[in-house]
Amino acid sequence: VSGPDREDRPPLRLRLLGQGLSLAIARAPAIWRILRRPTQRFWERSAATWDERIKPDRPEHLAPLAAACDQLESGPRSILELGTGTGAGALMLARRFPDARVSAVDLSTEMVGAARARLPQELAERIEFAVADAAKLPFADESFDLVAQLNVPVYLDETARVLKPGGHLIVGSSLGPDTPYYTPDALLARLCRQHGLDPIRSGDAGGATYFLARRTGGRRR
Ligand SMILES: C[S@@+](CC[C@H](N)C(=O)[O-])C[C@H]1O[C@@H](n2cnc3c(N)ncnc32)[C@H](O)[C@@H]1O
Repeated sequence: VSGPDREDRPPLRLRLLGQGLSLAIARAPAIWRILRRPTQRFWERSAATWDERIKPDRPEHLAPLAAACDQLESGPRSILELGTGTGAGALMLARRFPDARVSAVDLSTEMVGAARARLPQELAERIEFAVADAAKLPFADESFDLVAQLNVPVYLDETARVLKPGGHLIVGSSLGPDTPYYTPDALLARLCRQHGLDPIRSGDAGGATYFLARRTGGRRR
């Protein structure tokens, strides 16, 4: 069910907090310096129950990534997933693009530990999980054909830096505007343009939403 009656809608308090944080981080990235430690602590505590509560491998949870990938004209060879949590998005992307290598990062050591623990043998050579902050990525400029993120705030300075010219950004929200870490499309579009990314499409996938942009060939801001 999508819309106001959906049963999986998180409590109002959580949605307001998460959406306030997402807006703050998107509009004033310097605020992340203050938010980083408490955010990290929150997700370290949440990791143990994430899979049981959210079931992130569900097709509905991953729908925004899948729908946005349908829009790509060619398959990416190098993919970065930001805020991978327990790794469901990274596994899905690796299966969808069998020629790609996937780097997947998360702020939480516990989340990354859980992701590594369930990495299937057949994908182990193509997926690498690492503890890293999306606001300070340990990757060289212009490293990736695709940067994807699901239910995570945006950190566009670093995303634009690590994307190759012509590379794509996917911002997915599994519960659409009810997602706690939700950034509205209009704000994403404005920020993308400021960072040398062209918004391509926003879409809906059964109540989930995605936003797709492409880095232009020109210089970043
Ligand atoms: C709502 S969970 C989503 C997890 C996963 N993407 C999913 O949809 O199942 C948000 C995740 O983003 C991570 N996160 C938040 N801010 C981050 C940052 N600045 N850098 C890396 N990971 C971050 C958290 O640790 C948490 O695992």
